Amino acid sequence: MKSLKKICLLCFTIFCFMNMSIFAKSESEDMAKLDRIFSGAKNGNYPFTNVLGEAPEITDFILKNKSAFLADLNYVLENDTDDLLTLVDKTHSLDADFKPSDLVPLTDKTHYNFYRNDLSLRVPAEKSLSQMADAARADGITNFVVSSTFRSYDYQKGLFERYVKQDGLELAERYSARPGKSQHQLGTAVDFGSITDDFAETRQGRWVYANAAKYGWSLSFPKGYEPVTGYMWECWHFRYIGVPACRMQEKWFKNVQQYMIEFIYAWQTSD
Ligand code: DAL
Ligand code: ZN
Repeated sequence: MKSLKKICLLCFTIFCFMNMSIFAKSESEDMAKLDRIFSGAKNGNYPFTNVLGEAPEITDFILKNKSAFLADLNYVLENDTDDLLTLVDKTHSLDADFKPSDLVPLTDKTHYNFYRNDLSLRVPAEKSLSQMADAARADGITNFVVSSTFRSYDYQKGLFERYVKQDGLELAERYSARPGKSQHQLGTAVDFGSITDDFAETRQGRWVYANAAKYGWSLSFPKGYEPVTGYMWECWHFRYIGVPACRMQEKWFKNVQQYMIEFIYAWQTSD
């Protein structure tokens, strides 16, 4: 009996040791991958230029704290079961026929208000939006207005062409995405309120700016970051990326969504 116990203990110890070494190996592989990604970007041969071009301090901070960073990154990726972190920007497009499969029409005004009947969002985004709007109401924001949500490729095409006619190509490109390049096609982006700069100073605007991240919503085009995001400040445009990703954005990426999503793209497409 005693020797059976000893054998069991030995087996358990070997099992633990093997697991620890597998973990250590995968962590060291991830660390090497981080080095490769950042050094590739430094040499200009990686499609990941903004962090290094505009904010080298982000790179330095991550490389000085690799283990903690990788723990947070793995947590975010493991929890991204709804696939909320796709990179869509001026150089990364969605196909013309891309349409999320879990869009739900916004029909119920119990939580928030809207003034058109063709709005829809992906299920996880709508769920979180309802919770956020309820929290805003509890804080006294009685008219929580949702103005724009999912936009198809064709809808965005019409919108962009209209803006080009109105303001000329150069200006239109600073505030409107070309078709296939809008976060609205993902079904997880929302424009709130008036869709003008004045929104920032409204009660809803101030509340959303201060609280959105608690519900997983991230400001996509912050003030002063046009060279990074490609778009002028849009105080009304938020994208649902989930709570863990919002925390990661704040902790490691100077709270700039574009930096984080670009990094995640680099991570997921790199060997
Ligand atoms: N206004 C943002 C950039 C869009 O058109 O998606
Ligand atoms: Zn928008």
